[in-house]
Amino acid sequence: MPRVSRRRFLQYTAMAAAASILGCTGYAEQPVLPHYDFESLPGLGVTARRAGMDYGAAIRYPQLSEEAYASAFAKECSVIVPEHALKWEGLRPAAGVWNFQPADALCEFAQMHHMKMRGHTLVWYFAFPKWAQQALDKDSGARMLEEHITTVVGRYRGRVSSWDVVNEAIHPEDNQADGMRDSLWLRALGPSYVERAFSLAHAADPSAELVYNDYGAEFSGKRADAILGLLRRLKDKGAPIHGVGIQAHLWATHAIDVKKLQMFCKEVKQMGLKLLITELDVKDSDLPDDIALRDRLGAARVRQFLETILAEIKPQQILTWGLTNKYSWLAMHDQNASERPVCSLPLDQTYQRTPVWKAIHDCLIKLQSGLN
Ligand code: XIL
Repeated sequence: MPRVSRRRFLQYTAMAAAASILGCTGYAEQPVLPHYDFESLPGLGVTARRAGMDYGAAIRYPQLSEEAYASAFAKECSVIVPEHALKWEGLRPAAGVWNFQPADALCEFAQMHHMKMRGHTLVWYFAFPKWAQQALDKDSGARMLEEHITTVVGRYRGRVSSWDVVNEAIHPEDNQADGMRDSLWLRALGPSYVERAFSLAHAADPSAELVYNDYGAEFSGKRADAILGLLRRLKDKGAPIHGVGIQAHLWATHAIDVKKLQMFCKEVKQMGLKLLITELDVKDSDLPDDIALRDRLGAARVRQFLETILAEIKPQQILTWGLTNKYSWLAMHDQNASERPVCSLPLDQTYQRTPVWKAIHDCLIKLQSGLN
């Protein structure tokens, strides 16, 4: 987790003091959410399509049963991504047991609302059930990889248009060759598990767009270079890879390395790969409670991130990791969340549009008019 500099810390201390003087204290009672007047504008998916791309969001199957949310989702999104239903943990609760019902229902919702559906994710070190962790080794690895990918991609052939085939295979801190993550997949099959996964996915659905997905390309450090190195190796080996996903879990308080992000986009373009922004949201757990302040800083970060990318390359899709703050995964990972609402996504807890919504909208409008 990035450290906040001393200067920055002093700034926030002053802001927090100002906030407390202004009476913006913690939220014991239900917070009063600010109102922003963007409701009359078309949905983000409509604006994105007019700019020749797509906007969508991740969703969990149980959230579909909430009518107000389902209609807000249909109004804003032209792409749906199961947050959990297509992970090993969501699909395969026990050895020999497949649970396709949630993903099937999300697929049906997508078809009903003429949305594209992305599959997330076929191979990941996390959300990997205990039984699979115990079963995966050098002898079983090839069979487990083939069985999973062939079964899942085959089932959704022609219905899931794009897959995160491998997620987060890079982790330079593990001191493995080429910055690869020291995962059970790497130990079982060696680094070639990545290209094997892409080949298996392509064989199961030759029409699907196949993406490598990871985080941290927008920050300084070793991740961006290691991700680019993996992409180059995949391309050199002729792996059927079509795009790279930048997860974009931004921080309101943590600077984007603009030069590194620009370089990353240029390299992706030079490799002939598509760029997808796959999990956009904004962490602000180290900011004071004032919602309007957090909305403002979060939206400014999203705007800076999107403007940096759009100046270099047109993303295939912009996807946020959730549509409403009410269901953001950050609430589970933010120690302050119990006292205060998350401010991270395009809709607030009552499905009203937020400054993050406006930041995405404005960037799409600029893209439409070719002003990037
Ligand atoms: C997250 C989910 O949103 C959480 O509900 C779950 O507890 C952990 O995984 N990068 C990814 C996503 O690729 O799959 C993760 O989703 C968030 C980080």
